[in-house]
Order: sequence, then structure tokens, then C-alpha cells
Amino acid sequence: MDAEFWNHRYARDDFVYGTEPNDFVAEVAARIPPGPVLCLAEGEGRNAVYLASLGHAVTAVDLSMVALGKAQKLAAVHGVKIETVVADLAAYRIEPGAWAGDCSDLGAPAPAAAAKRARASCGRTAVWRRVRARSLYAGATDL
Ligand SMILES: C[S@@+](CC[C@H](N)C(=O)[O-])C[C@H]1O[C@@H](n2cnc3c(N)ncnc32)[C@H](O)[C@@H]1O
Repeated sequence: MDAEFWNHRYARDDFVYGTEPNDFVAEVAARIPPGPVLCLAEGEGRNAVYLASLGHAVTAVDLSMVALGKAQKLAAVHGVKIETVVADLAAYRIEPGAWAGDCSDLGAPAPAAAAKRARASCGRTAVWRRVRARSLYAGATDL
């Protein structure tokens, strides 16, 4: 699934995955220490905006410019600022030691590989995986 697929998926007015943070992210977010947080495969920004509302400087990375445009609109609605980066995680360089935590969606092979790199580069990590068949979530955390 490439950028065209995701841009088409997000090309609607409402939020495909909603505007509330993922349950697992909300559960562990308070344990992320102060500092910048990296959100990989962030989509329309629901987790990034939530983490920004807790006071983190958040960088959200995704393949889809349409999704990240919606993420910036969601941030504005909530009165927070987030940085958004349109990039393919297969090539995205994760700055070692630059992040207090990461919040990564492992729903696709490229994000999963990038999340592993993030785990090696971040002090704290809250990665999570979509269990597609049941639309449930399983979390993994080092917090
Ligand atoms: C299932 S959606 C989840 C979005 C968001 N994490 C959420 O839960 O609301 C998966 C996301 O992964 C992104 N994605 C898939 N492959 C990617 C890649 N190679 N690089 C960057 N983002 C990618 C898609 O654009 C999409 O936004």
C-alpha cells in the first residue's frame, strides 16, 4: 500500500480512525518522560495531538500528506502545535538519542521496521500493533 492508496483513503472530511487517541497510547502516555516524542505512521494525528496536549513536542511522520494535513487541522482545533513530516519510514532516519519516547503504529511492514529502529533510539517507547482481524489493539511498552 503506497502513498496514493493512503491519500485516497484519507480523502474525506471525517477522520478514518477517529480523533481520540488509541486506548493503549492513552493508557501509557503519562509514563513517557518529558521531552520530544516521535509518532511513526501517525496518520490523521489523533495520538500526536493527544501527546502534544500533555506537553510533549511531537513529531508525526507518515507517508500520506493528506493525513498529515488533517493532523495539522486537528492540532489547531485542540490549540496545540505538532511537527509533521511526510516520509516513507523505510528511508526515514531516526535521530539517535533525540527522543524521550516513541509512539509507533506497527500496522504495516515499513512502520514495523522503523518502530524497531525507534525502540533502539529512544529512551522510552510505547509501540503498539493493530490486530487487524478483530480491530483490537495489543500494546508493547518499555515504559
Ligand atoms: C492503519 S493507519 C493508522 C494511522 C494512525 N497510526 C492511527 O492509528 O490513527 C497506518 C498508517 O501507516 C502509514 N504508512 C503505511 N506505510 C508507511 C510507510 N512506508 N511510511 C510511512 N507511513 C506509512 C499510512 O499512511 C497510515 O497512515
